[in-house]
Amino acid sequence: MTETLAPPVVEPLIRGRFGRPYVYARHCASTQLELDEGSPEGAVAVCELQTAGRGRLGRRWEAPEGTAIHCSIALRPPRTRHVAELTLAGALATAEAIEATAGGAAPLIKWPNDLLVDACKVAGVLGELRGATVVLGIGINVNQTAEQLPAEARQAPASLRTTTGREHERAPLLAELLLRLERHYDSWREHGLDALHHELERRDFLRGREVRVDGIEGRACGIDRLGRLEVDIAGERRVVESGEVRY
Ligand code: BTN
Repeated sequence: MTETLAPPVVEPLIRGRFGRPYVYARHCASTQLELDEGSPEGAVAVCELQTAGRGRLGRRWEAPEGTAIHCSIALRPPRTRHVAELTLAGALATAEAIEATAGGAAPLIKWPNDLLVDACKVAGVLGELRGATVVLGIGINVNQTAEQLPAEARQAPASLRTTTGREHERAPLLAELLLRLERHYDSWREHGLDALHHELERRDFLRGREVRVDGIEGRACGIDRLGRLEVDIAGERRVVESGEVRY
């Protein structure tokens, strides 16, 4: 499939505030570096190839040119909100956009930032704070073949192509993602994570599983209303603020 995320293809599909301006480069080090503290809220950076793509915990995030969605969005949340929750808002928007446009894939959210289909990671979210601006990075594996997915990943990787058996157009998926993110962001600004909690619960991958995270082991009870993971350790509830979950 020959397709591009260049402005003439994507801009006509943008229906809301997010994606204006649409900052596009064919190649860049990381879309996270194309935005900064001064970027207007809703600005989006997109490229076809990242040469130094960033994952969580200092990891790399890579895909062959033109096969994935790599985008970053500038957000300026109110000071009263807990910015770490934006990762979950981004994960929810990504899951819904994938489900809406790539029929056959219904991603679950592995707290705090992984999107899984059949227990394989198809997308990830990375929030970085620059002053009062959050640069929210989202990477979706779209059209990579099995051979093009990273071999050394901690969570088995997949793409929408490998999970559905066909290629997908990236531009409609990106436009859908931006619209859903905008809606969730607006609700979150107004009502906090309460507004998204029900949908997060519905897509919670870890709930009921035995997990190990942040030095503790127990059964995951779910994501609480502050975006933390609740874990039951022999009848005692503990909350985890952040970390890498093994299950
Ligand atoms: C993770 O699961 O570790 C988070 C991955 C986030 C990757 C995206 S791709 C677009 C943006 N630019 C980057 O360099 N990283 C994020």
